Amino acid sequence: MINIIFIGDIVGRPGRRVLAQHIDALRDNYEADLVIANVENAAAGFGITSKILDDLFNIGVDVMTSGNHIWDKQEALEFIDDEPRLLRPLNYPADTPGSGIYLATTPQGEKVAIINLMGAVFMHPTLDCPFTAIDSVLDKAREHTRCVFVDFHAEVTSEKMAMAWHLDNRASAVIGTHTHIPTADERILPGGCATLSDTGMTGCYDSVIGMDKDISVQKFVNKLPRRFQVASGKGSLRGVHVSIDPQTGRATHIERINREEAGS
Ligand SMILES: [Fe+2]
Ligand SMILES: [Fe+2]
Repeated sequence: MINIIFIGDIVGRPGRRVLAQHIDALRDNYEADLVIANVENAAAGFGITSKILDDLFNIGVDVMTSGNHIWDKQEALEFIDDEPRLLRPLNYPADTPGSGIYLATTPQGEKVAIINLMGAVFMHPTLDCPFTAIDSVLDKAREHTRCVFVDFHAEVTSEKMAMAWHLDNRASAVIGTHTHIPTADERILPGGCATLSDTGMTGCYDSVIGMDKDISVQKFVNKLPRRFQVASGKGSLRGVHVSIDPQTGRATHIERINREEAGS
C-alpha cells in the first residue's frame, strides 16, 4: 500500500509552525510514503520563496503543489525550473516556467504521478480548460504508474466533483484546495478515485481564510483598499490521508486529518 499525506494550503507562519510541529508524528502515524503540501500561500500568505521552499523540504515535505498565488513572490519564476518537486498548475500556457506534473518515487520504489491543476470557474479566465489539460497528459503518466494524485485548486465544489468523476478509473485521488475551508465529503468513487472537495488551509482559523480578520472585515464593510496581513494566532493543520493500492492505482482509504498547534 502507498500512504500519502496531503496538507492543505499552508498560510504564512502559523501554517508553517503547525506543520513543523506535527509532520514527524503524522508520518509515523500514517506510515506515510509521501508528504505533499500546497504551498501557494506559505510566504506571508502570498506565494513561496526559495528559503521557505528549502525549509519545507528540510522538515520533510516531499512534493509541493500550488495554485493562483504561485507567482506572488516573483522569485518563483526564477527558481521553479530548477525544482521539479514544486508544481504550478498544469493548465498554464505551455511556455510558462515550471511543470504541473511530477513523478515521485516512494521509499519502496513505487511511482506516483502528482498533478496540480487549476479550476476554470471564478478563477484565472484565460487558463486552459483543466479537463482537457489533464486528459492531454494522463495517458502518458499512466504508462509510468497507475498511482495518480491530483491537487485540483479550484473555487467551486461542482467543478471539483465533476473533475473527480471525470478522472474516476484513471486517477487515484482528486483532492481540492484553494477555498481554505475544509469540506466533509471525503469518499472513494466506484472506480477507485478518492476525493475531497476541499482540504482546508493549514494556518490560523481565528481569521478570514488565514488573513487578519479585522482587516478583512473592514475591507468588506468600507470597500476601501487595505493590504491583507496573515493572522497571527495559533495554527491549525488540515490535511488528508489517502491509501492507494500500487497494483491497481485504486484508493482504498481516505481520511481527513486535523491537528492543532500546541504551546503559546
Ligand atoms: Fe490558498
Ligand atoms: Fe488559491
